[in-house]
Amino acid sequence: MKIFDEIESEVQSYARAFPRIFNRAKGEFLYDEEGNEYLDFLAGAGTLNYGHNNPVFKELLLDYIQADGITHGLDLHTKAKGQFLETFNEKILKPRGLDYVMQFTGPTGTNAVEAALKLARNITGRENVISFTNGFHGVSLGSLAATGNSHHRGAAGVSLSGTSRIPYDGYLGDDIDTTAYLDKVLSDSSSGIDKPAAVIVETVQGEGGINVASVEWLRNLDAICKKHDVLLIVDDIQAGCGRTGTYFSFEESGIKPDMVTLSKSLGGYGTPFAVVLFRPELDQWKPGEHNGTFRGNNFAFVTAKAAIDTYWSDDVFSKEVMRKGEYVSKRLQAIVDLYGEGNFTTRGRGMFQGINCVNGELAGKITHNSFKKGLIIETSGADDQVIKFLCPLVISDENLKKGVDVVEQAVKEVCAGESSIPEETDYFELSKVING
Ligand SMILES: Cc1ncc(COP(=O)(O)O)c(C=O)c1O
Repeated sequence: MKIFDEIESEVQSYARAFPRIFNRAKGEFLYDEEGNEYLDFLAGAGTLNYGHNNPVFKELLLDYIQADGITHGLDLHTKAKGQFLETFNEKILKPRGLDYVMQFTGPTGTNAVEAALKLARNITGRENVISFTNGFHGVSLGSLAATGNSHHRGAAGVSLSGTSRIPYDGYLGDDIDTTAYLDKVLSDSSSGIDKPAAVIVETVQGEGGINVASVEWLRNLDAICKKHDVLLIVDDIQAGCGRTGTYFSFEESGIKPDMVTLSKSLGGYGTPFAVVLFRPELDQWKPGEHNGTFRGNNFAFVTAKAAIDTYWSDDVFSKEVMRKGEYVSKRLQAIVDLYGEGNFTTRGRGMFQGINCVNGELAGKITHNSFKKGLIIETSGADDQVIKFLCPLVISDENLKKGVDVVEQAVKEVCAGESSIPEETDYFELSKVING
């Protein structure tokens, strides 16, 4: 079909890596017009944690549409929104001891980030925001100022101001705690870093190359923010909604951020939806001060509620994600040990895992080769050097194994090595550690 070449903008990106016309999707699979099946380890860049066309959510959505439920509601109170809020409060916030109010923003992640930054600046009366090397928070101007990637920043066309960059955990090596540097510059009135309104951080940097912040680092960051009276914003747009094994990615660290942004898999069905959560005392917005026409995607309220009811009413799903994550982590380590020649490393938490191939060209060849074998998988990182495993969390064990097998074969071919992973090794057996 020439129409894409004729009138779709050059700005397209994923479509270049996967040049097919897709017309159907189910669970962890995508299908193209010719009926070819692809295992999807990209999952809408983390939007489809519960798979494509999740049958439970679909049924509820069809019922809702059939009953002429409201589709677009601005910020009107609707039954669907009320039910979502009740469910989120009862099953997500209260069990975790989190006391947050929720702001509905425009439906993409960057809208939530913009709202959080604006609110933090308004509350504190300070302009500066601390963000981290390799951080990614979206490409609208406020979020872009907090984003590290030069390719994206270069397209801004205006100066990106109001932020200061600090090295992320591990950026200067494993032995250097970069939060000590943050503490130092915030304590020094001549450091040249203006006292910030907030610190914005991802607990695992997705676009930045699956860089994982340690629990200790996050706790230190939280303590330093409190010490200097600076708000802590966790951008959980990609790492949240179960990707790391818990609903919020910061749960293991025990911190309670002042603000949290959520989007991507929040809607559950690929239904666009974004929110900011913050402590009630921070709710200093004046009515309508920050708005947006599409803050009331009621289809997303229906599917987001369904996602929580189905997967987050108890800890069964969470344990499953951790078990599968453990499996992926072990498999990737074995692949790296075999073919990485001491250069490749693994990284990640839960079902947010990657192989750092150091070289972007090599990583690109591996994902391209994987695609030829029917697997959709992308790279991330400053030089696209990290192969990023982002499959739906609901994937079956069999298909998870199949996908990792494809990558292993692709790595083997690209690196021209030979596999000696014993056929009979049962990685799911090995990963029972978590489930007991
Ligand atoms: C951590 C994080 N924040 C913000 C965004 C921006 O979200 P969106 O692309 O929906 O604007 C992304 C997107 O990948 C992200 O990973």
